Amino acid sequence: MEERLSAILSAYQGKRDELIPILQKVQGAYGYLPEPEMLEIARFTRLPESRVYGVATFYAQFRFAPMGRNRVMVCRGTACHVKGAQRILEEVEKHLGIREGETTPDLEYSLETVACIGACSLSPCIMINRDVQARLTPKKVEQLYGKDP
Ligand code: FES
Repeated sequence: MEERLSAILSAYQGKRDELIPILQKVQGAYGYLPEPEMLEIARFTRLPESRVYGVATFYAQFRFAPMGRNRVMVCRGTACHVKGAQRILEEVEKHLGIREGETTPDLEYSLETVACIGACSLSPCIMINRDVQARLTPKKVEQLYGKDP
């Protein structure tokens, strides 16, 4: 068993009700839930692998692939929606070459959508890591990503 996982599991007894806290700890350590660790967690908690995956996929907080170095969040809230968020999302997807929920193969970008990033007066907007990109247009998205990824 991998050392990091072993250290995490040593704090637990393998009870079934520990599954979610264990998944949270493992994701915190690895940034996602790698398959070998998921299988070890199933063994440790004496739960079928399908059950462990079933629980993990139920919660949006868990990821099964590593996060990119840059997190791009496209707002799909009402204010952004009425100002063309869908078009912005399509443009970002086009430039990054990935769909919502995916990470680029070089692990540079992960793309997500969010309900509201709290900058409605600047809609439509996206957030790249901690920076809000305001009043976006497809042209501005092109300027942001056109040459980079
Ligand atoms: S709806 Fe997009 S920032 Fe609030």
